[in-house]
Amino acid sequence: MVMHALVVDPDASGSLRLGTAPEPHPAPRQLVIAVRHISLNRGEVAFAGRLPAGTVHGYDAAGVVVRAAADGTGPAVGAEVAAFGAGAWAERMAVDTTAVAEVPAGVDLADAAALPMAGVTALRTLRSRSVLGRRVLITGAAGGVGRYAVQLAALGGAHVIASVGSPARAAGLAELGAHQVVVGLAGIDRPVDLVLDTVGGRQLVAAWELLAPGGSVQNIGWACDEPAVFAPYSLFSIGPAKTMSTFGDVHEVGPDLATLLDLVAAGRLAPEVDRRDSWERVADAARALLDRRIAGKVVLDVEPAAA
Ligand SMILES: NC(=O)c1ccc[n+]([C@@H]2O[C@H](COP(=O)([O-])OP(=O)(O)OC[C@H]3O[C@@H](n4cnc5c(N)ncnc54)[C@H](OP(=O)(O)O)[C@@H]3O)[C@@H](O)[C@H]2O)c1
Repeated sequence: MVMHALVVDPDASGSLRLGTAPEPHPAPRQLVIAVRHISLNRGEVAFAGRLPAGTVHGYDAAGVVVRAAADGTGPAVGAEVAAFGAGAWAERMAVDTTAVAEVPAGVDLADAAALPMAGVTALRTLRSRSVLGRRVLITGAAGGVGRYAVQLAALGGAHVIASVGSPARAAGLAELGAHQVVVGLAGIDRPVDLVLDTVGGRQLVAAWELLAPGGSVQNIGWACDEPAVFAPYSLFSIGPAKTMSTFGDVHEVGPDLATLLDLVAAGRLAPEVDRRDSWERVADAARALLDRRIAGKVVLDVEPAAA
């Protein structure tokens, strides 16, 4: 049995194409979803070509449970869920029950697909410390992770500084809760307590210099393609330690995904889907994401015509 899926093909534009793959074989702890919508993330798109040809790619999906987990955990057949796991960009996906959350009434399934990787990353990195009353700098704020981070930091009571690459990319960020929107790091005249950095390179070095004593940088990603060079002793500081942390904790995201979905249902978090398209046009959508033409998320529909 085969199904349609977005598979890695080194000869395809962006190394991805709509093809076929074997049906998933769920482990006892996994359920199977009929996927309706998927979302793209910069890392997956940028590095698709590094995976073996034929790999079913992607991590973010939303759809309907068509087979419950054999171990009795997780939602029942017929439940609408958002999910995070390898092999998401396919008609059917097997996923651990700890990595799914039921979609509340009133939340669009396509919006739910926009949440997993970017939303959970923003939520978990903000939880690294209390942000209430703190100055939080978010780089790459116009992007997928960035737009969630701006909203969640504002919800958490932070003074939110959103950094974008150009004036045009500032659009909508104040409405999402940013108190200050800056191009690069220009105009940040006081130290910050927390930096969520998705850009890397020179900007990461400059953001480190903006940290208050005891402050922290959460390095989430590296959207630019340049190195970060720290001058000798520039990591030294007097007083409470400044820290820089990596992030890659996607363990058991189900409860955090449920939190995000509840916020969407309550009208307190906007999924910010900037482009909605058929998965047949994955190459165009991926190109737009890499070219910084997407403000927020790309959601692709798993078209019934492909079934
Ligand atoms: N550690 C993890 O678990 C994890 C999870 C999710 C994402 N990530 C990583 O985090 C980063 C952001 O992911 P995302 O999905 O939010 O990406 P995205 O939607 O493409 O957003 C990236 C943002 O980076 C900004 N940027 C600044 N300099 C750039 C440059 N030279 N090239 C490209 N973009 C540049 C862009 O700003 P402008 O729009 O203002 O131009 C863009 O809005 C990626 O590196 C991704 O791999 C890591």
